[in-house]
Amino acid sequence: MGAATPATVVTTAREGAILVVTVDNPPVNALGVAVRQGLAAAMAAAQADDGIAGVLLVGAGKAFIAGADIREFGKPAMSPSLPEVCRSIEDCTKPVIAVLHGAALGGGLEVAMSAHYRLALPAASLGLPEVNLGLLPGSGGTQRAPRLMGVKAATELMLSGKHLGAKAALQAGLVDRLVESGTPVAAGLAYANELLAQKAPVRRTRDIAIANPSGALADLEALRADTAKKTRGLFSPLKIIECVQAAVQLTFDEGLARERALFLECLDSPQRAGLIHAFFAERETAKIPEAQAAQPRAFKTLAIIGGGTMGAGITVSALDAGFTVTMIERDAESIARGQKNVEKVYDGLIAKGRMTEEGKAATMARYTPSTSYDEIADVDLVIEAVFEDLEVKKAVFKELDRVCKKGAVLATNTSYLDIDAIAAATSRPQDVIGLHFFSPANIMKLLEIVVPAKVSADVVATAFELAKKLKKVPVRAGVCDGFIGNRILAVYKQAADYLMEDGASPYEIDEAVRGFGFAMGPFQVTDLAGGDIGWATRKRRAATRDPKARYVEVADRICERGWFGQKTGRGFYLYPQGARVGQPDPEVLAIVDAERAKKGVTPRQFTPEEIMRRYMAAMVNEGAKVVEEGIALRPLDVDVTFLSGYGFPRFRGGPMKWADMQGLPQVLADIQAFEKEDLLFWKPAPLLVKLVAEGKNFDSLNKAA
Ligand code: 3HC
Ligand code: NAI
Repeated sequence: MGAATPATVVTTAREGAILVVTVDNPPVNALGVAVRQGLAAAMAAAQADDGIAGVLLVGAGKAFIAGADIREFGKPAMSPSLPEVCRSIEDCTKPVIAVLHGAALGGGLEVAMSAHYRLALPAASLGLPEVNLGLLPGSGGTQRAPRLMGVKAATELMLSGKHLGAKAALQAGLVDRLVESGTPVAAGLAYANELLAQKAPVRRTRDIAIANPSGALADLEALRADTAKKTRGLFSPLKIIECVQAAVQLTFDEGLARERALFLECLDSPQRAGLIHAFFAERETAKIPEAQAAQPRAFKTLAIIGGGTMGAGITVSALDAGFTVTMIERDAESIARGQKNVEKVYDGLIAKGRMTEEGKAATMARYTPSTSYDEIADVDLVIEAVFEDLEVKKAVFKELDRVCKKGAVLATNTSYLDIDAIAAATSRPQDVIGLHFFSPANIMKLLEIVVPAKVSADVVATAFELAKKLKKVPVRAGVCDGFIGNRILAVYKQAADYLMEDGASPYEIDEAVRGFGFAMGPFQVTDLAGGDIGWATRKRRAATRDPKARYVEVADRICERGWFGQKTGRGFYLYPQGARVGQPDPEVLAIVDAERAKKGVTPRQFTPEEIMRRYMAAMVNEGAKVVEEGIALRPLDVDVTFLSGYGFPRFRGGPMKWADMQGLPQVLADIQAFEKEDLLFWKPAPLLVKLVAEGKNFDSLNKAA
């Protein structure tokens, strides 16, 4: 494919007195510099040509225009700017009609709002999602949307980043007409000719007065208070409100100038860099060698083995995606419980008014509960989610090997176990793969696809296809203890334990981690998940633990008292009367003190910043090891794992992106300083040392892959 030029990405054709201007810049008609030049040239041509009475703006392919070209952000600006293009459209003295048949997002909607009339087709999707990228609509969107749809609705649209369908957009006043069928050009020409026949005037959005300015300002105040509370630490949402306030209080041109200044501030913010990294990284993780080497196998029917927490969640996820699912459990009582676990999810939706009884019945019609493996002889894909015990899993896979048809994909949801060993229990290791869902599996986006040694490429490609169908974010992982996510989690959790023993309280650590942007700190997470789970793992591993490695016993002391967290009303925190938010517990602090005294530790003070330097250094160092060992294909796979599965603050882009933004020399220097305290734990990852020596960052590996 040749380089995009204005003439190739924006074409014009005369249809009578109408100039049809088509943006054709696959895949989504993003407004890169060539498109902007092409649009500016087309508008100038339409203006200059006396034979042209109106202009139709359409998009080729599936989108109208999905926005500015995100890849250009952070690079030097090129002329014309999008606000200039929008101005040339709005200034046109002949009616300009935009036809929205697919995504009209961000700058795409700003172009449409600069046109004088807007026609939508049923698949149109309109929105100003810049906030998801750390930005605000920067081409007049914050000034034009409030004029078209009212201040409150426009501000809510921009703060949420949500898309409106064609009908909702019509109701909101964003489009003038909705037609049910036709191609964009045919429907657009019919509408344009009708407007010309009526001598419809040029209607400029900028000339619309904002209704009830004092009421609008009160709405903005309420939104400001709500946003400050909900979007802790985010930069662009409050700037969006500032722009809309300018739309209410200033002239249109002054408002535009304010919007530009604030847009540029957002563009310069590290949050913009983090969020845009996240956007592209999530689209990169599906680019894996096996998908290029092989086609996925066909699959329609699924079996889930185990109906506990995970089996039920995975079943709901599969039913929601339209699959037929057979669930297998050990006995009649367990399968009845499994079915109840599934129904509980749908009953919850019914209670919230998000599902009807009929909807539930239709969904459950695709679900078959059973205790007999013979029922799944013909299914295409099996996901095992039984107890986390290698012998139990091996027995299940022997059974699957016996009953399942040739070519069926056999997957395990194990969190830690050796999938090569599970595969070896069958006569067909080429069909065995790991599908590590996260709890609750019908909600959490992450799916670690764990690739054992003998699996065939088409099975890996099938797993990625399944992720797409289930609307999950897939990340390819290699086999090791904990794969990508849980392996790294174990290490930074240890860093948190060391911090606690060295002087920071669990409450200070949790607060620092929340201050960084996580919704919860590590000790809150332990209390939520149940302290007994980690305790069981620690006991199991006690015999194989390196005797030289530092081991913090505080959590064991807490569990010995039966304090397993929220479910027992007490853990690291107190939960009086079933409270969901915990309170600090002086007895826990006394336990911590006693453990310190036992080890002869003199407690030190740690600032939140010092806490986070250690927490993040541990995460990044293990992340580098995971990349170096090939467990993760690229640093971006580690980032996406943490963004989609571990609540890592999206605006920071993920741990590896965070490290790049700090500068790897700084991160390495920290690790080397900590190494003086504990040679074993803080050993720098060789990859990190190498990158620093070569003056490179993690992103250089993303680009090279
Ligand atoms: N710029 C550059 N590339 C873009 C892009 C954009 N605005 N939007 C999508 N792409 C790329 C994707 O990276 C992907 O590339 P790849 O094939 O190389 O991985 C390709 O287009 C297809 O994208 P998806 O895989 O996401 O395709 P879908 O069909 O699932 O979704 C979409 C299409 C809904 C348009 C989705 O891509 C999307 O949400 N895009 C971003 C929309 C957006 O945020 N627009 C605002 C941009 S900021 C702006 O306009 C600022 C302005 O106010 C000044
Ligand atoms: P669970 O204890 O809630 O459910 C396990 C279910 O398996 C039980 O209902 C049990 O009756 C059933 N079962 C046991 N042996 C069986 C057999 N031979 N045949 C059929 N069914 C059998 O456990 P949970 O939490 O659902 O975990 C299941 C798996 O998912 C484990 O491997 C776990 O490591 C993994 N996992 C768990 C996560 C979590 O947060 N709970 C997250 C990600 C993975």
